[in-house]
Amino acid sequence: MQTPTVLVVDYGAQYAQLIARRVREADVYSEIVPASTPVAEIVAREPVAVILSGGPASVYAEDAPALDPALFDTGIPVLGLCYGFQAMARALGGDVAHDGTREYGRTELSLTDTSGALHGGLPSRHPVWMSHGDSVVRAPEGFTVTASSDRVAVAAFEDTDRRLAGVQYHPEVGHSPHGQEVLRRFLHDVAGIAPAWTTASIIDETVDAIRAQVGDGRAICGLSGGVDSAVAAALVQRAIGDRLTCVFVDHGLLRAGEREQVEKDFVAATGAKLHTVDAERRFLDALAGVSDPEQKRKIIGREFIRVFEVATADVLAEETVDFLVQGTLYPDVVESGGGSGTATIKSHHNVGGLPDDVEFTLVEPLRALFKDEVRTVGAELGLPEVIVRRQPFPGPGLGIRIIGEVTADRLETLRAADAIAREELTASGLDGEIWQCPVVLLADVRSVGVQGDGRTYGHPIVLRPVSSEDAMTADWTRLPYDVLERISTRVTNEVAEVNRVVLDVTSKPPGTIEWE
Ligand code: XMP
Repeated sequence: MQTPTVLVVDYGAQYAQLIARRVREADVYSEIVPASTPVAEIVAREPVAVILSGGPASVYAEDAPALDPALFDTGIPVLGLCYGFQAMARALGGDVAHDGTREYGRTELSLTDTSGALHGGLPSRHPVWMSHGDSVVRAPEGFTVTASSDRVAVAAFEDTDRRLAGVQYHPEVGHSPHGQEVLRRFLHDVAGIAPAWTTASIIDETVDAIRAQVGDGRAICGLSGGVDSAVAAALVQRAIGDRLTCVFVDHGLLRAGEREQVEKDFVAATGAKLHTVDAERRFLDALAGVSDPEQKRKIIGREFIRVFEVATADVLAEETVDFLVQGTLYPDVVESGGGSGTATIKSHHNVGGLPDDVEFTLVEPLRALFKDEVRTVGAELGLPEVIVRRQPFPGPGLGIRIIGEVTADRLETLRAADAIAREELTASGLDGEIWQCPVVLLADVRSVGVQGDGRTYGHPIVLRPVSSEDAMTADWTRLPYDVLERISTRVTNEVAEVNRVVLDVTSKPPGTIEWE
């Protein structure tokens, strides 16, 4: 049976993904479709409701995304938000004024009808987040106006008989404290959708889909130590048991404890068959004498593919494998506009004796999921907390957090400092506020210090704690002084080569999150 799905029509400006996430938080599955999707195509997908997102355009702009009024003849419940609200008002015969009425940011919403389906029973005045230029001045025929603001007369309307409603504000953002309740009411009460998208149902459906796809076949999955590959592998393991082989390349650029987390904890939690490749020496040799960041990245990427190929060839020597598991997430799918299901691992250099092109069919068990859902699924599958909660960590690992040449000693130094910083941040309960906190070793810089009776000539490490929604932009996290003090004291005492700890207070832009 097809999962009951809400389609979010994307009018731009990054609201659509947030709306889809909020719908799923109300236990209803949702997907995003572009504004250009024809109504016939929407109907063919049999959605249980449609939500029209906000967007930057004015409904009067020449290139404003169009809304086909035929959508409202289909009987599908529709909720319009912000731009979607105005487009809906216009399409149904209401009036939208291009009169310079603007509201941006926190605004008070006043209920004009306290018995409405979306807002009834909520405080008669409450804050919402607005962001609009035009405004709806007359609701379409058959709609009840249920809220206004100080500047706009029509801030929400509904026609519950036709299961249509809209709000001028953004219920999906945290600045609208009752927004989630309003979305929930639309989905459950107005549209009558049963809340069925739960962690348990995600796992059941995904496992069924993997079994259907892989059949009696075998699969291989590369683990990185991060949450996506671990959860993808755990789901496939649950579906096909030891017909899955996991491959873990230890390139020596991991942080303290990460190899053990995969080899011991992940395996204990899932029972997965794991093939670990010890490749530290190979990576260090390839990186010897290299300081240029782009060259480091290239070398690490190249070596990784080679080592993975060798490992794959080892597995292929024993069994036939048709499927390659990848941890692609829903935002990647949306942003790349879909995508196909076959990957070719090209054996560029034929080091592993693979045939010229080994073709695998991709298994992407996380393709429908947002990151927070992946974490919840991972926790439900019993994966170790350290893996499930792991902050983003770049593929080239500590290799791009040593400014200068990468050597075994420098890795040891950085690993020790990084472990202390992570330990103290976790102990202080700050993990939730921090997107990630790279610790960077300035290996080519030395500064004078004094420790005990002697002068030292050690290296600085940089703490780069950032807060972010998506890593595209970021701000430096205002860490409490006492936490910084504990990290600084411990690092300079416990890590021999480090005699200074400095804090990076640069936002992104202009600074990137990583230093290389
Ligand atoms: P920047 O430094 O560009 O980082 O602000 C944004 C996010 O991407 C991660 N990052 C990488 N991830 N390979 C990766 O897999 C890379 O080469 C790489 N460089 C940066 C970074 O950790 C942050 O989350």
